[in-house]
Amino acid sequence: MEETVTPKKKVMLSGIQPSGELHLGNYLGAIKNWAARADEFECYYFMADLHTITVRQNPADLRRRTLEQLAQYIACGLDPQKNTLFIQSHVPEHAQLGWVLNCYTMFGELSRMTQFKDKSAKHQENINGGLFTYPALMAADILLYQPDYVPVGEDQKQHCELTRDVAIRFNNIYGDVFKVPEPYIQKVGARIMSLGNPTSKMSKSDPAGCVFLLEDENSIMKKFKRAITDSDTENCVRYAPDEKPGVSNLMGIYAAVTGKSYDEIEKEFAGCGYGVFKPAVGEAVCSALRPIREEASKILADKTYLKNVYTDGAERAAYIAHKTLRKVYKKVGFVER
Ligand code: TYM
Repeated sequence: MEETVTPKKKVMLSGIQPSGELHLGNYLGAIKNWAARADEFECYYFMADLHTITVRQNPADLRRRTLEQLAQYIACGLDPQKNTLFIQSHVPEHAQLGWVLNCYTMFGELSRMTQFKDKSAKHQENINGGLFTYPALMAADILLYQPDYVPVGEDQKQHCELTRDVAIRFNNIYGDVFKVPEPYIQKVGARIMSLGNPTSKMSKSDPAGCVFLLEDENSIMKKFKRAITDSDTENCVRYAPDEKPGVSNLMGIYAAVTGKSYDEIEKEFAGCGYGVFKPAVGEAVCSALRPIREEASKILADKTYLKNVYTDGAERAAYIAHKTLRKVYKKVGFVER
């Protein structure tokens, strides 16, 4: 009888910092694309808590948000049976490989990182070493699991490219230790902009322009009704990111939550002004977030379930992470314990 061999699934990995409440940018740029991949890929998703302390955090808030984030991952459709969900600090190999990769990441490379430049401008009182070497830890997060793809929003592309450079540099010295992963960036939703300022990305540091996953619907509708649209005289829904960044951002959000193309959206709102379009986008977002909010609050109430999920996740993650770290330690010349 002929033996059938199931081909090994490709691996996907990504993480989000629990440094603030999850928002629409995190959802459309990242999580939404993760949930659909569980059958096709072997998937690892984590709460990047080690990264958050590069900026000062309130400890109680950090703990609460980490668990809320896990509940929201599950509510967004990440089934813990099919995806390995874990908390970064529960797998010490991240910090261990992070140190090693610090020694293979160049000062000049780290100095060029946009996120470092932005964050050090915002937190001038606390430009610490961790903020600077953050991308080496991120490279460790990724390379430990030998993933094929890293699904992220556009803003993380530069860090993913640095990860590839570090992996290639290490492999050139020691042989094929790391798989060199590809960033996996969707066309629609990869860069959601602030509703208050469509030329800067949606981020928790600008709450007026940011829609949070667990936000109350009245507040979401207010933010969409107040969204900055363009000061052209045209008052028509047309996709033109350079000319009409405000309307194009709203079209991007509408396309991402409804699955409609820009052509379909232009036809749907032909002859309607921004006054009709803006609340329609708000309604569509509310409908998409409603089941997530309801499900997340149910999951969050069951602390035992959440604990089982992250304990089991850490165990599964550590198994793979440990294998890679052992190989790295051996290659660089550390004596085995
Ligand atoms: P973070 O926590 O800032 O963001 C998490 C994810 O959300 C995406 N994102 C957006 N996408 C579209 N539009 C936006 N306005 C928007 N804002 C955020 C981000 O691109 C990201 O995918 N360094 C990472 C966390 C991290 C990580 C990793 C990611 C740590 N280790 C390993 C992947 C693999 C970060 O700060 O993302």
